[in-house]
Amino acid sequence: MVCDKFLTFNNGVKMPALGIGTWQAPEKEVEEALNLALEAGYRHIDCAPVYLNEGVIGRVLKSWIDSGKITREELFITTKLPPPALIPEAVETVLKKSLADLQLEYVDLYLIHVPFGIKFDEAKGEFIKDDGGVVPDMTTDHVAVWKSMEAVLEKGLTKSIGVSNFNMKQIQRILDNCSVQPANLQIEHHVYLQQKDLINFCKAKGITVTAYAPLGSKGIATLNKAAGVDRQLPDLMDIEEVKSIAAAHGKTPAQILLRWIIERGLSAIPKSTNPERLKQNLNIFDFKLSAEEVEKLNALDANIRVCDFAFFKGVERHPEFPFAS
Ligand SMILES: NC(=O)c1ccc[n+]([C@@H]2O[C@H](COP(=O)([O-])OP(=O)(O)OC[C@H]3O[C@@H](n4cnc5c(N)ncnc54)[C@H](OP(=O)(O)O)[C@@H]3O)[C@@H](O)[C@H]2O)c1
Repeated sequence: MVCDKFLTFNNGVKMPALGIGTWQAPEKEVEEALNLALEAGYRHIDCAPVYLNEGVIGRVLKSWIDSGKITREELFITTKLPPPALIPEAVETVLKKSLADLQLEYVDLYLIHVPFGIKFDEAKGEFIKDDGGVVPDMTTDHVAVWKSMEAVLEKGLTKSIGVSNFNMKQIQRILDNCSVQPANLQIEHHVYLQQKDLINFCKAKGITVTAYAPLGSKGIATLNKAAGVDRQLPDLMDIEEVKSIAAAHGKTPAQILLRWIIERGLSAIPKSTNPERLKQNLNIFDFKLSAEEVEKLNALDANIRVCDFAFFKGVERHPEFPFAS
């Protein structure tokens, strides 16, 4: 089953509403999972160089394209400008590295991954740190970086450009100073973090929205633990309202959480490397939530942010850190 529901960007480009995430999908798992995902019908793949798996994703994509099982035009590939590269001069070089790894001539969507630049030691291949954690690059200038995003668009290295984890003020500043408006905003979005004002703002400006962590990103617990962050994360698939709606439709809680996002006119990019779960996540186009069920899910909003970058200690010192404390 191929996802036949699309979001249309302000430049006419169409993106499949349901995609697959690849964060915390280690190289050894992602090859098999991506093959299964393409067989199952996924055509939209969300990547980033910081996920450290673009090389293996590129090998799988090339094998599918070379064998004639799929055409490049059928795929929608997103990747992102990483935090150390929020420097105008770095954008083209870093995108070309992603393209080389992904074995593609262009991506469909290139996003600025986060609004804060972070200092990186190229020689050592690691983030520069001080007592407060990673060291923010205080010179980050969104308008200057966006001009370089426009330049790679103009060169045909990407079909569309957008931002991720930007707040309303940061997006407005880009809108006030751009030649090409962002086509897409990627943010954390799920029943416990609905971000209604930000999404309404994007709708009013003609910017489509992609929901990351649509299932609550359980994997963040591992990162938090490794970084010594003690935080209780909610289990979205264990919410009573979600479970009872799932039972009423003969679906799983994950399918209800995803269907709710798609019915709001957004895109969702759940990550799974499990053969059954990745198929399950795509199988959400044969039922509809009632108005009453949607109301119940809307009422769960609790402003609980799971991906607050606490595992990335130090970034909160950046003047462009996007989330209010
Ligand atoms: N722009 C950004 O800053 C940003 C931040 C975070 C994420 N993202 C993107 O968004 C994608 C999705 O977010 P995420 O990976 O953080 O979290 P997520 O998709 O909300 O959750 C993924 C977790 O849920 C599990 N899972 C998947 N399907 C399931 C199902 N049907 N039933 C039960 N468990 C299920 C996965 O385990 P299994 O793999 O074992 O199934 C994994 O542990 C990422 O992979 C990445 O591409 C972007």
